[in-house]
Amino acid sequence: MEKTSRIYVAGHRGLAGSAIVRNLSAHGFEHLLLRTHAELDLTSQAQTEAFFASEKPEYVFLAAAKVGGILANNTRRGEFIRDNLLIGTNVIDSAWKHGARKLVFLGSSCIYPKFASQPMREDALLTGPLESTNESYAIAKIAGIKMAEAYRAQYGFDAISLMPANLYGPGDNFDLESSHVVPALMRKFHEAKVSGAESVTLWGTGAPLREFLHVDDLADAAAFLMREYSSGEIINVGSGEEVSIRELARIIQEIVGFQGEIVYDRTRPDGTPRKFMDSSRLRGLGWKAKVGLREGLAATYAWFWETEAARAHGLQSDVLTSGMKENARDTRLRE
Ligand SMILES: NC(=O)c1ccc[n+]([C@@H]2O[C@H](COP(=O)([O-])OP(=O)(O)OC[C@H]3O[C@@H](n4cnc5c(N)ncnc54)[C@H](OP(=O)(O)O)[C@@H]3O)[C@@H](O)[C@H]2O)c1
Repeated sequence: MEKTSRIYVAGHRGLAGSAIVRNLSAHGFEHLLLRTHAELDLTSQAQTEAFFASEKPEYVFLAAAKVGGILANNTRRGEFIRDNLLIGTNVIDSAWKHGARKLVFLGSSCIYPKFASQPMREDALLTGPLESTNESYAIAKIAGIKMAEAYRAQYGFDAISLMPANLYGPGDNFDLESSHVVPALMRKFHEAKVSGAESVTLWGTGAPLREFLHVDDLADAAAFLMREYSSGEIINVGSGEEVSIRELARIIQEIVGFQGEIVYDRTRPDGTPRKFMDSSRLRGLGWKAKVGLREGLAATYAWFWETEAARAHGLQSDVLTSGMKENARDTRLRE
């Protein structure tokens, strides 16, 4: 990629896409092509074709997708499979047809079988049944991976597929109804602190192990692989750091400054005991994550309160904000 290359970041207002834009801008890439969902609906073949025909992006980061929590994935299966199949098909096909030099497709760890051995290696793809709650989403992502692979094989199109671990960071969705675990825990502890609650109840035992990747690391890896990787084989992008939900909750509690108790409701399900990706292929290329979990979580909470404070008005929110700032600062000092 040259500094003047025309680079399209699809989904540039999302969690991953916005981090990719920050990374590219910080490294002096000046010709970014950005369209909101309202300006360009990627499920429309006609709109996608017209965009690629007129703008002729040379490099494409495909970070647009219909994404949701477990509930939405399970209850809106039709939308998830349709929109994600269409987005993948339209963007990969148009990019190839209009002469893009390279495309990075973002998949997800949910493409691996439910009972894949841990840590999950890239060759576990299509070796067993998927987790049923997000099967529609995963099938659409697998179709995107296979399309990238097939276009490479038949047309020589340089499309690569990355499988990021669970992402978190600035720009995340903090809506309790649809958020992932990190923003959900942050909001729960934050609200409990503000309301003076004595305890926060979390589902399960807290024992499951998970891997989290800061979005800035994902963006850095995506830019690195755009430069350095050219293969039909998918590649995992993880932090290499595993943490139990219990430990994660404890760190977030400390960052937020919630003084109450954490209660584990053991009558609720725990979910998969371990979800950890083997990122040795990526490390073998010379890339590793740079943002430590505690540091990344503190920065994410700082972003959350800034965003909340910007929404709020008056003295009360100012007081709240300064309290939150103190906590985030304290946490960084303890590093
Ligand atoms: N978040 C994670 O933990 C995680 C982990 C692994 C992989 N990933 C992958 O990373 C990619 C991006 O995820 P994310 O978490 O950044 O999602 P996100 O925050 O929801 O962002 C997705 C973006 O895609 C846009 N979009 C959705 N449908 C579109 C359409 N029809 N046309 C044009 N734009 C559309 C959305 O715009 P609107 O909001 O306006 O619809 C949004 O800006 C996905 O492929 C996902 O599988 C994410």
